[in-house]
Amino acid sequence: MDKRGVTFIIFGATGDLAKRYLFPAIYTLLKEKKIEKCAVVGVARRPMNVQQLLNPSQEFIPHLNLSIWKQLEQSTVYHQLQFDAAQDYQKLALVLQNLEQKHSLFGNRILYLATLPQHFETITRNLASSKIATQTKQNWNRLVYEKPFGENLKSAQKINQCISRVFDESQVYRMDHYLGKELVGNISLVRFTNRILEPLWNKNHLESIQIILSEKLGLEGRGEFYDKSGALKDVVQSHMLQMLALIGMESPSKLTGDYIRNEKIKVLRKIKVKDVFMGQYDGFTREEGVQPTSKTETFAALKLELDNPRWKGVPFFLKTGKYLDKRETSIHLKFKMVECLLTKSCPTDSNYLTIRIQPNEGILFEMNAKVPGETYQVMPVKMELSQPDLNGPKMPDAYEHLLWQVIQGDQSVFVRNDEIEAAWKVIDEIKKKKLPVYAYAQGSKGPKELDEWSWKNKVRWRG
Ligand code: BG6
Repeated sequence: MDKRGVTFIIFGATGDLAKRYLFPAIYTLLKEKKIEKCAVVGVARRPMNVQQLLNPSQEFIPHLNLSIWKQLEQSTVYHQLQFDAAQDYQKLALVLQNLEQKHSLFGNRILYLATLPQHFETITRNLASSKIATQTKQNWNRLVYEKPFGENLKSAQKINQCISRVFDESQVYRMDHYLGKELVGNISLVRFTNRILEPLWNKNHLESIQIILSEKLGLEGRGEFYDKSGALKDVVQSHMLQMLALIGMESPSKLTGDYIRNEKIKVLRKIKVKDVFMGQYDGFTREEGVQPTSKTETFAALKLELDNPRWKGVPFFLKTGKYLDKRETSIHLKFKMVECLLTKSCPTDSNYLTIRIQPNEGILFEMNAKVPGETYQVMPVKMELSQPDLNGPKMPDAYEHLLWQVIQGDQSVFVRNDEIEAAWKVIDEIKKKKLPVYAYAQGSKGPKELDEWSWKNKVRWRG
């Protein structure tokens, strides 16, 4: 438990992210008594009161506990501010001082930039000049930057340079909420705490890897943003390349902090783009905020390789899309076939290790075993670890977990400046190619033309 308390200052507090994830996460930290006390300052441009700010979050909190909700409400104030108005930050500094005094807080602050990335530099500079985020020996101040962090390599570099001029990297937490998901956090733990896996985790034993992030949902009112972004910038640059880095990295000397990030960056820098396929769902160009002639991709499939001794020649296949037939995020490691020693019928497939990120979180190992009653015939069977069996049906929410990590000062589940830039480099390279974009029906598995692409690249998708 954190007894000294925290002040959360949320920029972009009237947005969807704060409503759906941040306020519910702070509520849960209070409810689970991870933090004893806190103050919350919601910061945004339009006028609003605390009830208008907080109440919409209630529908995202199951079994609302009214006394905890009251505690959150009494700890919260709303502060109207124009992101570029220096005098508004001076006023904010005073608000913070009073609030921290009122709640007997020590000035440990989380400054959460839940805004679009074009505001990051302005807010960062103003936070520095108003000394709102200046830590001392007695207290810490940490800045959290929501994704997307920029819109290409150049803009990300500019934001990183701006931050590094005024803050130390040890204060900076770049968000990728996938790193807060239980099963993503489990990848390196399962890999490096079990003797049986690591010796097989390389090109000698693995034939290919699939990382799949399928969504049933569409744009959720974010047409204008998504039209400028597309699947590659929205989820491949961040969530999918982060998962790839965790699968691909070498063993860090310790499973914590920069040891992990030092290994992930080496992977991201070795990515080679081999082939890319793109699609757009029917009706995308009629969505609100989307240009009628838009060629933005809502679906992407990629073949990547890692140019290093562990992985040389092993394809990493990535596939993602909006409005597909199902919601599923999973990683599949396909092992090579063994030589067939059976005389009647050989195994139909090799072994798979599947990490199911969501839904039905768990880890599955698929192996061949004897068909009961037969003497020389095998069939694929599954050994399964189901995550809900370990921690009950309620999976910890990613944002709640990540906010708790910020409070504890653990940066390993946040993305470092160099990782962000290396990932953008990969996406910029693909974006330059001007590839065709194939149409697909909503609720389908993606464009029909994907079959030919998959056949050409020798991939049989597992999801
Ligand atoms: C976000 C993307 O980062 O991740 C969204 O901007 C996407 O477009 C979402 O829907 C997927 O996250 P999750 O946790 O629902 O799988």
